[in-house]
Amino acid sequence: MESELLETNGSIDVVWLELDQPAEIVDELARMLHPDEQRRVARLASPLERSRATVRLARRRQVLSDILSLPPELIDTRPHSSGQPRCVAESREPLFISASHCEEVGLIAVARDRTVGVDVEATHELPDPDQFAQWVAAVEELHEINELELGERPSACLRLWTRKEAYLKATGRGIGEGMHQVRVPLEPGPWELPFQPRPDGPDWLLFELETPRGGLNASLVMARHDSNVPRVTVTSR
Ligand SMILES: CC(C)(COP(=O)(O)OP(=O)(O)OC[C@H]1O[C@@H](n2cnc3c(N)ncnc32)[C@H](O)[C@@H]1OP(=O)(O)O)[C@@H](O)C(=O)NCCC(=O)NCCS
Repeated sequence: MESELLETNGSIDVVWLELDQPAEIVDELARMLHPDEQRRVARLASPLERSRATVRLARRRQVLSDILSLPPELIDTRPHSSGQPRCVAESREPLFISASHCEEVGLIAVARDRTVGVDVEATHELPDPDQFAQWVAAVEELHEINELELGERPSACLRLWTRKEAYLKATGRGIGEGMHQVRVPLEPGPWELPFQPRPDGPDWLLFELETPRGGLNASLVMARHDSNVPRVTVTSR
């Protein structure tokens, strides 16, 4: 891990996870899982999926344990019925959490005082243009993308996708709610950017995250309470 997680209001902890770990580490992490989590992992089809899921769920528990300064076994991470991750621990305020994973890479964001959402996706997983138009982009957004140079279009599509998905995860509703209704900026980072995902709705803040390897795009979004920009601390495990 690059730096200590800090316990501060108004700050967001973002943690990248390396999900491919040696078997002895996976075995050790598996012992940290709650029986519900163990059952979830056991339902996965392949040994690789089971190993990656073990690492991401156990590491999540470790990250939360560090932030709350509590032993991992005292933290209840059973998700909401919608699937949105949750963290409850006796005598502590609940934390806001969002999680995503793509191949060997996991991503978690944790906040104390605001809703957060994260998403990481790989360029090669972009749906074909017809499906992209059907699932992700509104007509005006497709026009905007088609005005870009050919070579810039895949990364623009990926940005649009991870930004919308991060926002819909933050709301807890997931992509079933429909990405077409959500508006996100299309341009590449700056580090933080205010945006209004719904007409007449409140402003949110978007952060484009640096990814641990190429071929990925990752977004972090958060509810905006005031004009202050929270400090985002990015580490990896
Ligand atoms: C949640 C969802 C966006 C996941 O997308 P994905 O690209 O397949 O996977 P990601 O790795 O990015 O995200 C997975 C994480 O999303 C989180 N998640 C699941 N449901 C969620 C919800 N309703 N709200 C917020 N976060 C959710 C979980 O933390 C999950 O990780 P975990 O299993 O390690 O806890 C998507 O499956 C979804 O919207 N599900 C809700 C059900 C739904 O709408 N179904 C209709 C589909 S048309």
